[in-house]
Amino acid sequence: MEGIKFNQVGIAFKGSGSYVPDQILTNQKISQKVDTSDEWIKSRTGISERRIAGFGDNVSEMGYKAALTAIKMANWDIKTIDLIVLATSTPNDLFGSAPSIQAKLGANNAVAFDLTAACSGFLFALITASQFLKGGSFKRAIVIGADQLSSFVDWNDRRSCILFGDGAGALAIEATSEFDNLIGFDMRTDGQRGSFLNLPSKNNEDSIIENIDFLSGGFASIKMNGQEVYKFAVREVPIILEKLFIRNNYSSAEIDWLVLHQANQRILDSVGDRLKIPREKILSNLDKYGNTSAATIPLMMDEAIRNNRIKQNDIIATSGFGAGLSWGAALIKWG
Ligand code: UT7
Repeated sequence: MEGIKFNQVGIAFKGSGSYVPDQILTNQKISQKVDTSDEWIKSRTGISERRIAGFGDNVSEMGYKAALTAIKMANWDIKTIDLIVLATSTPNDLFGSAPSIQAKLGANNAVAFDLTAACSGFLFALITASQFLKGGSFKRAIVIGADQLSSFVDWNDRRSCILFGDGAGALAIEATSEFDNLIGFDMRTDGQRGSFLNLPSKNNEDSIIENIDFLSGGFASIKMNGQEVYKFAVREVPIILEKLFIRNNYSSAEIDWLVLHQANQRILDSVGDRLKIPREKILSNLDKYGNTSAATIPLMMDEAIRNNRIKQNDIIATSGFGAGLSWGAALIKWG
């Protein structure tokens, strides 16, 4: 893509797609490994089971499958795609997995890159891609959220291993001069509170050349202070959404769907209550998939679009939150 200038002002949402691996890991099965129970996990999180990527699956493969379905819904010629942004914290290639998705798709005219912002990653990627489109540089973009956190979970830590699963979701967005269906957005980070949830590098000391220290790369497993992350989410998410509503002259009564990062059913309910959004408007599928990090929002949206719950022109309030700490929100009109 050569950065041709289009005269565009806004974003249209043209398609959605998702993919989850076949393997199912139930609460029951986890309780055979750590001291927990189906009852505890369900009542504290709302999760019943999650999907785990097997040997054939990785972020690139899952992201490719989600992207391809979104492109089919958009009915695009793959050669017309200008930009592919992959939100992931678990690339199968640390140099970037987006170009391998570009190659699998055969999207030869697109530029593809990864973006990392943990569970806020999809929203950050959507907002990033939208700026290229609104600025007039690119016309068509695929935004993907894909993660394989199962590879980085400490399966002996019952406080965190119950939460996470693997999957991918994608949206196809297009620049248009007629309207802007990305009505508004906001993004925040607070590195001071970063230690509440992280996946630190774990370096092994080595000495390849005399008197020169080397660190060979690798990663430890997810470290989480669940209570602090919970408090952060139920405090910050309503605030960022309320501000977004006010800035864009929307009231919470005008919201058709609340699509939050699927972390814990209690967080979803609490945010909905704070915003006075009734339970039937709060979309949830974490009972089946757990927390798939950057994938949860597009995975949830795709499911609701295909089930004919989210319809053309519906107003969606969405928010992602998690490690960083990072959080973001967007107000979307579907279509
Ligand atoms: O994308 C963002 C990702 N992270 C999050 O969204 C995490 C947000 N936090 C949470 O969802 C909740 O904090 C958790 C589900 C992780 C934990 O629930 P909680 O109600 O905050 O539990 P807790 O950490 O306060 O622990 C309560 C008790 C403790 O026992 P004691 O010390 O009171 O005897 C834990 O040891 O529950 C115990 N516990 C468990 N028991 C059975 C913690 N994990 C488990 C478990 N099974 N899996």
